Amino acid sequence: MIGVFDSGLGGLTVVKEILNKLPQYKIVYFGDTARAPYGTKSAETVKRYAIENTKFLLEKGAKIIVVACHTASSVSIPYLKEKFPDIPFFEVVTPSFKKALKLTKNKKVGLIGTRTTVESGIYNRLFAEANPGIKLYANPAPLLVPLIEEGWLKKPETRRIVKKYLIPLKMRGIDTLILGCTHYPLIKKIIQEKAGKRIKLVDPSEEIAFEIKEYIEKNPDFAKNLQPDGEPEIFVSDITPNFEKIAQLFLGRKINLKKVNLE
Ligand code: DGL
Repeated sequence: MIGVFDSGLGGLTVVKEILNKLPQYKIVYFGDTARAPYGTKSAETVKRYAIENTKFLLEKGAKIIVVACHTASSVSIPYLKEKFPDIPFFEVVTPSFKKALKLTKNKKVGLIGTRTTVESGIYNRLFAEANPGIKLYANPAPLLVPLIEEGWLKKPETRRIVKKYLIPLKMRGIDTLILGCTHYPLIKKIIQEKAGKRIKLVDPSEEIAFEIKEYIEKNPDFAKNLQPDGEPEIFVSDITPNFEKIAQLFLGRKINLKKVNLE
């Protein structure tokens, strides 16, 4: 099985892409809804959660782990790889970085994400190593996650807040914008509208699905371990009626959430 986790339900945007590209494999998902958001927590805490989430998915039979959360990807990947050396990990930061590197022409890249993602400095390090000529302009956009979870996808308030977050980045003249949070694909249209046509958006969910596909094709023995087909199994650490509604919004289909207690 392909194991996927996120702090909550935003990672289902990644699941949707994996299902599009790899419908033949079963997915087990864990959304840590009881402890979300991660984007306002310290790196230390997010690392601990990421390790617990991975353990849970491995117990459920996952053979690949996809960290479908920008915040957890930003702060916990080296620790996860050290703790689980035999497990292939896929995350959202590297594909976003690679795509932005390819897309930018004027070498001015923007980033919006949670505070923990922006403050981790991971993108600054990656761009500085790859091409010191590239300037990264980052703006934490903490209000967007609750607005999206509230289902305010088309409200004028959401449009206004998106606009406000993008103004400083546009003033810097960015030509590429990384959507550094797995919730943001749900308001991609508004972000594109407010950013303007000249700014290219980077959404890593498609890239991740391609990377997993490539990995499975290159490792046919490994593919034998994966359990083909079946509906995705979605576990969460807390359930409210609103979560069911949001989950459907993210995945684009009706699903059954199952509650699990990790502690
Ligand atoms: N899923 C998180 C991310 O991609 C956003 C929500 C949160 O703060 O937990 O960063």
